Amino acid sequence: MAVIALKCPELEVVVVDICASRIDAWNRDKLPIYEPGLDDVVKACRGRNLFFSTDIEKHVADAEILFLSVNTPTKTSGLGAGKAADLTFWEKAARMIADVSNSDKIVVEKSTVPVKTAEAIEKILNHNNNGVKYQVLSNPEFLSEGTAIEDLLYPERVLIGGRETPEGQKAVQTLKDIYARWVPDDLIITTNLWSAELSKLASNAFQAQRVSSINAMSALCEATGASVSEVAYAIGMDSRIGPKFLNSSVGFGGSCFQKDILNLVYICECNGLPEVANYWKQVIKINDYQKRRFLNRVISSMFNTVSGKKIAILGFAFKKDTADTRESASIFVSQGLLREKANISIYDPKVTEDQIQYDLATNKLDWDNQVPQQPMSPTARNQVTVMWDPYEATKGAHGVCILTEWDEFKDLDYKKIYDGMQKPAFMFDGRNMVDPVKLREIGFIVYSIGRPLDPWLLDMPAVA
Ligand code: UDX
Repeated sequence: MAVIALKCPELEVVVVDICASRIDAWNRDKLPIYEPGLDDVVKACRGRNLFFSTDIEKHVADAEILFLSVNTPTKTSGLGAGKAADLTFWEKAARMIADVSNSDKIVVEKSTVPVKTAEAIEKILNHNNNGVKYQVLSNPEFLSEGTAIEDLLYPERVLIGGRETPEGQKAVQTLKDIYARWVPDDLIITTNLWSAELSKLASNAFQAQRVSSINAMSALCEATGASVSEVAYAIGMDSRIGPKFLNSSVGFGGSCFQKDILNLVYICECNGLPEVANYWKQVIKINDYQKRRFLNRVISSMFNTVSGKKIAILGFAFKKDTADTRESASIFVSQGLLREKANISIYDPKVTEDQIQYDLATNKLDWDNQVPQQPMSPTARNQVTVMWDPYEATKGAHGVCILTEWDEFKDLDYKKIYDGMQKPAFMFDGRNMVDPVKLREIGFIVYSIGRPLDPWLLDMPAVA
């Protein structure tokens, strides 16, 4: 919305939310989220044609176009628990719009939603029969965190889906005219509503599938002595495959991939397509396997016990350049180490201590078994320290795990880190950030995901 306000100064953009503290935070100097470039965009428009308000009903009633961006988490109970999207917030928002509107509106789905949500929204919007006409459009967002502003200013494409009626097409054109202010015409794709809704789920599923594919290869690389970075480079040179999104890792995280694939799986199941559902489910199963495999490798390498040992975690965010920790592999690895009674010391340049403690203590639903995963026990709190310096975090540690690909981890003084650690000193690089040869020269025993194993690690029990 901030970028729309920046590019269309004649439009008035009002962001409304029921959460007063959040709106208050958006009106302050320090914005509530870290995203490169966002500060400049918000500060250029705020108070001019970009406003943040809790006066929801007034602004909804006044608006001509409404972008619905309420969250659609995975259901945690009831029918479809663990997979289906929870549309409670959507339904409430749609009912509120229907109740307060007295002029025609275009309602744009911005959140990622299950296919056919627009149909349900249309029914809710029209239940009042008060003569107000609505056109529902699907305009999914493809930005990535950490590069959001760049992605919005120079999108690879903008997708708008609408009804194929004259009114529907008129609404599509209205939204298209907004994006056309800065996006070339040929990059604005228009489709029917269902294609737009499904394209968003499909796009995330394909991206996640690439990561799971290369992560599956990483296990085979370790078993055979191949190097996953060399394999990724070699296959990425094929233009039919392409080089992007082939970085093997400790597992993908983020608010979208797992949630959207589970949602896709659920939609397939509901449509009587169990084979298709199982195909996509496998993408998440490999991701879970990759996280588990990494954790097991840490434990088995260190003589099968980490009890009472200090392990440093470098990186807690789900990827670099964001403070977002949702579904981060770091949460899984940290919780696993705590269950094994390790003491962990965490450093992340952006994530706050409160967030880390919250994530480690939170009860999550295991999507596959629909039972709560074990969170950190209250006593385990004493096993966690959060540091604001990587050298302090690693001091006296037996092992270090690199779990987020923050650029600064490439340039740390690893000799200094090694000197401060217990010996033998273990380095578990879950992001292939540091040259394992250099680390071995320093004296580390190194595990680098998908790369040939240290002789030391080959002697340790196999991990599953
Ligand atoms: C994703 C999609 O990219 C975006 O289009 C959609 O709108 C929302 O979901 P985001 O979640 O911000 O965006 O992050 P993304 O860059 O896609 O990374 C997701 C996860 O995959 C991260 O944990 C990242 O570290 C991991 N990843 C990505 C890899 O492990 N290897 C890769 O090669 C790429």
